[in-house]
Amino acid sequence: MNNTILITGGAGFIGSHLVRLMVNKYPDTHIVNLDLLTYAGNLANLSDIEDRPNYTFVRGDIVDSDFLDGLFKQYKFDGVIHLAAESHVDRSIEDPIAFIKTNIIGTMNLLLAARNNWSDFSGKRFYHVSTDEVYGTLGETGLFTEETSYDPRSPYSASKASSDHLVRAFYHTYDMPVVISNCSNNYGPYQFPEKLLPLFINNIKNNKALPVYGDGKYTRDWLWVGDHATAIDLIYHKGRLGETYNIGGNNEWKNIDLIQNLCKVMDELLDREPGSSAELITYVKDRAGHDRRYAIDASKLMNELGWEPTVFAEEGLKKTAEWYLANEEWMENVTSGAYKEYYEAMYADR
Ligand code: NAD
Ligand code: DAU
Repeated sequence: MNNTILITGGAGFIGSHLVRLMVNKYPDTHIVNLDLLTYAGNLANLSDIEDRPNYTFVRGDIVDSDFLDGLFKQYKFDGVIHLAAESHVDRSIEDPIAFIKTNIIGTMNLLLAARNNWSDFSGKRFYHVSTDEVYGTLGETGLFTEETSYDPRSPYSASKASSDHLVRAFYHTYDMPVVISNCSNNYGPYQFPEKLLPLFINNIKNNKALPVYGDGKYTRDWLWVGDHATAIDLIYHKGRLGETYNIGGNNEWKNIDLIQNLCKVMDELLDREPGSSAELITYVKDRAGHDRRYAIDASKLMNELGWEPTVFAEEGLKKTAEWYLANEEWMENVTSGAYKEYYEAMYADR
């Protein structure tokens, strides 16, 4: 093998798409996927590549610094792509400590393991995958650029902002070769059904209410998860050290418009009366501190590295809905057990 890359959080939603892309695209690179397999991590997301000679899965916790040090000594990583995180805003409102541990302390442990084990930084690279939520919220107009000031407003986004700052601090203080990206809302296959789209697809299928927070006019920019994976691959290999790249789909939707479109797609796919899925829409109590609008200016990534999103609005929604309907067993497995308690706690009194 030419070199060895550590991907953390590779059994999660975005991580599994990235691991698959890199294992397939770089047969001479050893990809080590380190994941704790929390509720959000699922080895079924990677069953098609688990036997590849250039792929190794390791179960472990980035909060455990001794474990990380041993892992770096064992595999002598040339690079790190760090995705492991607690990622759901609603959970961060209920239990912020888990977010501090994994997202801040875990990131610090990884930075230290890399610094302590890389005797020199030549040819090395530490890539931190982050979110547009660090920038806070926008009004009706405007876009987040790489120069937008940080203004995180949820425990999740504050923990990610903190981890971004730590990564930048290692660049300035220790000359560690780092790169960071901040991306908008991803959607597509293998997303845990706590997030809007898989949750609503599953609820429509089961004729359950669709809990729209507040007035439903909150706006997000939606990026096909495969397009995020190609951006990460590109930035890891070609991004300039010390730089930040925003990643976005140029695909803004108000939640209620996205949901209405999803309902139409689901009516067609499930062969139901037009309008029947939309009858499930139920306005519920808003998320605390709910950011009104996110929108991304990804021109730096597009102009410098030539990246472009490839899947848009209706096509992406249809592909997503079709995947979840075709993968009922996956959905049943992840929604059995603890998911039921989560759902009850999050939505029963809303
Ligand atoms: P996810 O919740 O689906 O997956 C997170 C993965 O990290 C899981 O496999 C989980 O088991 C693992 N993990 C959690 N704690 C860990 C620990 N202590 N040690 C090792 N592994 C641990 O998340 P995702 O949506 O795939 O997001 C991946 C990354 O991308 C996160 O850093 C997130 O902040 C960022 N991001 C996500 C989005 C999005 O729309 N989902 C957008 C921008 C950025
Ligand atoms: O912007 C990037 C971020 O996108 C990532 O960093 C996060 O990891 C990811 O979870 C996502 O955050 P959001 O909070 O935007 O995603 P979520 O799917 O939770 O919610 C999308 C929008 O839908 C948001 O405005 C809240 C709303 N919503 C969500 C749920 C779960 C509802 O109206 N009802 C719901 O039940």
